Amino acid sequence: MDRQRVLSGMRPTGKLHLGHLHGTLGNWVKLQDEYECFFFVADWHALTSEYENTGVIKGSIQDMVVDWLCAGIDPEKSTLFIQSNILEHAELHLLLSMIVPLPWLERNPTYKEQQEEMSNKDLTTYGFLGYPVLQAADIIIYKANKVPVGKDQVPHLELTREIVRRFNYLYKNVFPEPEQILAEMPKVLGIDRRKMSKSYNNALYLSDPPEEIKTKVSQMITDPQRKRRKDPGDPDVCNVFSFHKLYSTNDQIGMVDRECRKAGIGCVECKELMAGNLITSLLPYREKRLYYLSHSERVTEILSEGVKKARNIASKTMDEVREAIGIK
Ligand code: TRP
Ligand code: SF4
Repeated sequence: MDRQRVLSGMRPTGKLHLGHLHGTLGNWVKLQDEYECFFFVADWHALTSEYENTGVIKGSIQDMVVDWLCAGIDPEKSTLFIQSNILEHAELHLLLSMIVPLPWLERNPTYKEQQEEMSNKDLTTYGFLGYPVLQAADIIIYKANKVPVGKDQVPHLELTREIVRRFNYLYKNVFPEPEQILAEMPKVLGIDRRKMSKSYNNALYLSDPPEEIKTKVSQMITDPQRKRRKDPGDPDVCNVFSFHKLYSTNDQIGMVDRECRKAGIGCVECKELMAGNLITSLLPYREKRLYYLSHSERVTEILSEGVKKARNIASKTMDEVREAIGIK
């Protein structure tokens, strides 16, 4: 039997940080061996919120793909492409928009949440309301079976399934209903203990040089109750300890866990230990990055191979869609 198909996308709105690596991206890397994977740069989706500032999109696309490759997305196994290179997504989005009832979109929880979160932008647009319709088109045009996403995207997957059912019912059984694969997200917070995010200016980036990592780690907020060196601390509430669990050896984790509680280790020393391990684990990543930065033609080539493969599938699906609707 053919392998099941996985598809996922990411908006190009800046460089990737450790939150991405341990969430969505790490999950993508693992799926490559089991599934036929398609990963794409959702530049039209980025445009729904960045339409006044399109430079950031253009500036992030290549960089984001480099980040993917460095994090272990393997172009021999997975197909990588840019959404706007495949106009069929837009055609399917248009056709779906004819059959999606407005209330389905208006009650979408992320619609309201995002508007509040990005209150500095005017998101009362037609395109932004239709965000999940475009997402549904992205997914079903490849007849994807599985979609790895974070928790926040689950309503969009539900909506995708509703759209599929409606299409299949109105016209013809063209599309399978895709399921989400929820990414396990270990808790890595930003240096200020808020969610790691570019907009909070608290992120550790995959591409940060070692000195930058040292500085940022030294600024991390630890156990807020531990004010002085002689105070005992609680690693369970300390973000630095969460990072130890990801980057340090079991012996080191055990030692920090013990010594912190009896003030046997200070936060400065504890952070230096963690920062060293983090820097070491990002080394292979940095090396690959240097390679791709000086071989950008390789990235272009990967994307153009990917777009060919993806377009082939998308255009076949669109033939079926036009036939099912009876419009061509
Ligand atoms: N909405 C997704 C996000 O913000 C990005 C995305 C666009 C996507 N199209 C997709 C994810 C299709 C999965 C499948 O993360
Ligand atoms: Fe956190 Fe380490 Fe300080 Fe304990 S010693 S509070 S684990 S930084």
